[in-house]
Amino acid sequence: MHVLGIDIGGTGIKGAPVDTDSGTLLDERFRVLTPQPATPEAIADCVAEVVSHFNWADRIACGFPAVVKKGVVYTAANIDHSWIGTDAKSLFEEKSRCKAVIINDADAAGLAEMQFGAGRGRDGLVLMTTFGTGIGTALFYDGQLIPNTELGHIEIRGKDAERRATDRVRIEKDLSWKQWAKRVDEYLDRLEKLLWPDLIIIGGGASKHAAKFIPRLTVQAEVVPAQMLNEAGIVGAALAVLSPKLH
Ligand code: BGC
Repeated sequence: MHVLGIDIGGTGIKGAPVDTDSGTLLDERFRVLTPQPATPEAIADCVAEVVSHFNWADRIACGFPAVVKKGVVYTAANIDHSWIGTDAKSLFEEKSRCKAVIINDADAAGLAEMQFGAGRGRDGLVLMTTFGTGIGTALFYDGQLIPNTELGHIEIRGKDAERRATDRVRIEKDLSWKQWAKRVDEYLDRLEKLLWPDLIIIGGGASKHAAKFIPRLTVQAEVVPAQMLNEAGIVGAALAVLSPKLH
């Protein structure tokens, strides 16, 4: 199946047509900056822009940086608060004139990694964490996604973990890889004590620098970098179309 996958992030909105059988992009990615404030109207306009860039008239699937159930948005950590309670599916369908599927962005990235990347063929408990503008998580047991886990918001040293260990914090505070790895390690260690995953996949913007921080991590679980880099969110959103129970 061919689906236009769109990854809606706190910083950029990227899309490309995806072949869901092979997990490959059928065209160059197209990217627009996430508008500020990131209101429903403004983001829906960007989605429509991506759709018209590809002259797309078929199904679209979006990874979205919030809890999403049946197309409705429930949280808004890095997007405008007016998203809470918004029916994103109806809004995107109206603006783009395409049938839309919306799921959490980290869940989307996780689906792609489990099918075509670092989690391929892996059973047991797999935890995917994405370090970008926020911290996203996706949890799989024997390959089955447990959707909408929001483990980026557990409390560490009295703060939302996301305020301490995102890639954005690393850049804003000009942390060295060693300093940042310590924060990530403390975060993963806490998650490990709660969930005991067999495998942790690290994705998001920082994953392309995996060699600079993964060797410094002390968690017991095997930790590997995501393999699909900035394509995971696009490919995974498209894959969600194949799992009707997820949306
Ligand atoms: C949101 C999650 C999202 C993550 C990554 C967090 O702030 O609460 O839903 O998956 O950022 O974008």
